[in-house]
Amino acid sequence: MTSKIPWDDVVDKFDTYKDELYYGAADNIETVWPVVLDFIKNKIHISHGIKALDFGCGTGMFCRELQSLGFESFGIDVSPEMIRVGKEHLGQDSHLYVGDTSLAKSLTEKEGAFDLIVSIMVLQFIEDQKIQELGRALKKGGYCILVNHNPLHLKARGFTDTFTLGGTDTTIPLYQRSAEDYDALLAPLGFKRIFETYATESPEFLKKYNLVRPSDDPKYLVLAYTLN
Ligand SMILES: C[S@@+](CC[C@H](N)C(=O)[O-])C[C@H]1O[C@@H](n2cnc3c(N)ncnc32)[C@H](O)[C@@H]1O
Repeated sequence: MTSKIPWDDVVDKFDTYKDELYYGAADNIETVWPVVLDFIKNKIHISHGIKALDFGCGTGMFCRELQSLGFESFGIDVSPEMIRVGKEHLGQDSHLYVGDTSLAKSLTEKEGAFDLIVSIMVLQFIEDQKIQELGRALKKGGYCILVNHNPLHLKARGFTDTFTLGGTDTTIPLYQRSAEDYDALLAPLGFKRIFETYATESPEFLKKYNLVRPSDDPKYLVLAYTLN
């Protein structure tokens, strides 16, 4: 049965606290997290009271990383199931919330704007206006790090404007965007791109999960912006 929020149906796969992980969740952790964490450690001066939002946090494990770096961390996800599992692990009082980009904006009214917004494998599933709404939750002088599939990788896998949720027959809208497409969306808000890199699975990862890459194009596009 498909529930109202399609992501609820794949909560088991994105429960990253398990010993044996689904490859689609494991490769975020193994391939993408090190790139994002390096950027944060090298670029951001982490001081008392600094606030980070993980938008589309899934079960919240990256919020825990941000917290251990010294951020006051907040997570938002549209899936109640993801947030339920996240709270089981991080505690019922943790700052994990069910919501969308409008919640990110309204949280800033209570908490102040965020010094850092991270979004890992989420924005390719949401519309342009919502991404701009999310951008309005960033503090001036803050940083924003976005990870999505590299459009060339999606093309090699045959995806166009819908995406199949891992191992199910549920499809959701897919908005394929290049670095320049994200620039065009975010520049009107005052965002300036300061980092662009591509990352892909290691040979060990491919072997462990018995995967064959569809092309030589790297799987992930990682972008970082500042807000002036
Ligand atoms: C591929 S998972 C990635 C989860 C997590 N960022 C990670 O790296 O493990 C995508 C997540 O985005 C969330 N999501 C999708 N659309 C969203 C939206 N409009 N607002 C908030 N979260 C959303 C889903 O519920 C899901 O947890």
